[in-house]
Amino acid sequence: MNQGKAEGVKSITWRDERLFFLDQTLLPGEVKIEEQRSVEQVWDAIKQLKVRGAPAIGVAGAYGLVVAMRGKISLDRGDFIQELEKQAEYLDSSRPTAVNLHWALTRVVDTLKASNARSGDELFNLLKQTAEGIHAEDVELCRSIGEHGVSLIREGMGVLTHCNAGRLATSDYGTATAPMYLAHERGIGFRVYSDESRPLLQGSRLTAWELQQAGVDVTTITDNMAAFVMQQGLVDMVIVGTDRVAANGDVANKIGTLGVAIMAQYFRIPVYVACPASTVDLSTATGAQIVIEEREAEEVTHFGLRRTAPEGIQVRNPAFDITPHELITGIITDRGIITPPFAESLKAAFSG
Ligand code: MRU
Repeated sequence: MNQGKAEGVKSITWRDERLFFLDQTLLPGEVKIEEQRSVEQVWDAIKQLKVRGAPAIGVAGAYGLVVAMRGKISLDRGDFIQELEKQAEYLDSSRPTAVNLHWALTRVVDTLKASNARSGDELFNLLKQTAEGIHAEDVELCRSIGEHGVSLIREGMGVLTHCNAGRLATSDYGTATAPMYLAHERGIGFRVYSDESRPLLQGSRLTAWELQQAGVDVTTITDNMAAFVMQQGLVDMVIVGTDRVAANGDVANKIGTLGVAIMAQYFRIPVYVACPASTVDLSTATGAQIVIEEREAEEVTHFGLRRTAPEGIQVRNPAFDITPHELITGIITDRGIITPPFAESLKAAFSG
């Protein structure tokens, strides 16, 4: 395999008024950057996981609105806003679980509605500025998550992560990986175990790739090896990302996270979840209200292009699961590490 290089590679690039996504479905074999020329193409890239990870799809959605509206600057204010709302609803339908997509689209629409901009031209300029602002902010938020979480990682530790909550899932540094990157930059020696994360292998294809290229000591394991590795005393801490944190502290994350948290409890290993404020959804009371995306059966019946399950077999393919707050030690956010009781501490940190 002619493996691509992670160095300097960004999941989303906005340059000279043009939008580019790194096609993450091809990693680590190929680094292919694709220009996004239409809103349908952006919708499809989010759906197909070419761009993926909760913060990244928020940024992608915001720029998707720019792409959708660039041919509409001749509209008057009323028509422009009406069309913008329609396009935001369309993009929001691409993936249901990560709240960041809905959050970013709503923020763009609300900002334009609250503005005094009168013409389509003025509204479009504000739309661009807002999308660029969300993008720049994401870099800062990831950095803050890293600063708050870095002290958890100490010399000689083993840290297990699941799926990819890394640079590729955000605009920089990642969420779960932010404390890891900072600890590595500060010369702390630790090892990461990266769960493969079936069915789409974000752990081995993406997390292992980006950490390896950054020089972090990373070992990839299949999902069913995690308990054994924990039993051997190799894991001192779990850090994962999340797609939505409910008001009571329940978290949605890549399918398999619940199992990791249950195993960690058995072995008395602390479980940390890392996310920016945009992933905290105080309007969702508990994890039971979070919509779990069901994906195509082929992701389970096939390994790559090869069928590995019998024709006609019944399949379930939930892309996420809910980890109840009782299994979580702390939530590392850009505003500090939130600890139980989560209902109170999340409200204190994130309401208003
Ligand atoms: O289906 P994916 O690859 O978008 O799932 C991503 C995850 O589950 C991540 O852990 C989550 O979005 C956090 S990303 C910082």
